[in-house]
Amino acid sequence: MTEIKPLPLLEKSQLLEGKVGWKSPSNIALVKYWGKRAVQLPENASLSFTLSEAHTTTSVNYAPRMPEKPWITFTFEGKKEQAFSERISKYCSSLLPIMPFLNQLSFDIESRNSFPHSSGIASSASSMSALALCLCDIEQVLYKLENDEHAFFRKASMLARLGSGSASRSVYPKLVAWGRSKVISDARDEYAIPVHNVHPVFETFHDDVLIVSEEKKSVSSTAGHALMDTNIFAEKRYQQAEDHMAILLKSMGEGNLEIFGKVVEDEALTLHALMMCSDPSYILMEPGTIAVIKRIRAFRSESGLPIFFTLDAGPNVHILYPESIAKQADEFINEALRPLAFNNRIIKDVVGNGPIKFI
Ligand code: DP6
Repeated sequence: MTEIKPLPLLEKSQLLEGKVGWKSPSNIALVKYWGKRAVQLPENASLSFTLSEAHTTTSVNYAPRMPEKPWITFTFEGKKEQAFSERISKYCSSLLPIMPFLNQLSFDIESRNSFPHSSGIASSASSMSALALCLCDIEQVLYKLENDEHAFFRKASMLARLGSGSASRSVYPKLVAWGRSKVISDARDEYAIPVHNVHPVFETFHDDVLIVSEEKKSVSSTAGHALMDTNIFAEKRYQQAEDHMAILLKSMGEGNLEIFGKVVEDEALTLHALMMCSDPSYILMEPGTIAVIKRIRAFRSESGLPIFFTLDAGPNVHILYPESIAKQADEFINEALRPLAFNNRIIKDVVGNGPIKFI
């Protein structure tokens, strides 16, 4: 299914009020999505770990729409948020061709993040996936659709993608792929899929996010993706991502940490290199980012321990390591890296089990 067939408008008898709620995690990309066409269709396949602790909790009260009531109200962390409300209204309007019933209801949406806004953890992935899951759930309830888990999550992934590309990957647990790739025959650009057959070492991987800076990003990801349209390395980059998918999936099947780490670090640095050579150019790493990366590499070569880094489109460093070295990694991070963190802040996370319905 790559096309969503819209359901007919709700009959009067189906127009009911109710409440749904989903908790959905953020994710960290191992192979990066950077470059898109149309509405969040990726130029290359990407692969991510779903996180556990970093999540958004969203609940939606819905009722038959009344002309005197606003279509959508949005409360974030207990406060009415006009700007977010507008973004969500725009998103829901964009969904009307595939979910026309959204126009027949009004929505009071409440959302909370488990992590701070400025932490460099992708809040659009968790928030857009939580909202997409709620909307699919409402559709399921009002149309009394049969319980087809596979179809439900696939649709949620597609809807989440329309909100933010990386959000498509947050609806599944553990390791998730999104985007056409020769190495995964059922992977598609329209939605993400869970990746199985991964060595157990990756099921409990740690991701400690070291906060280098809490400043707002100087370029939004949407603007960043657009820079790839004129980047002279774009085609080579898309080929590299495809090659990385193949190497990474093989190494993750075999439990080969050395190759895993090499590819993941290469991906992070390529993402930043692409931004540096974009027009206009952006340097999103800070001196602290480089200092942390160098210490991780030095410690790895001295100790022989499998501890690696990745980066998002920002200065904060995601430190990746297997559960088996958690004790040594903790000691190293606390002694050598924490002093480099802004306000000594490190947010600890691990690979997680995907979204949970709580209402
Ligand atoms: C660097 O998914 O935030 O985190 O589709 O425009 O919402 P939009 O972009 P977004 O881009 C994420 C970019 C990235 C890499 C990744 O998560 O794959």
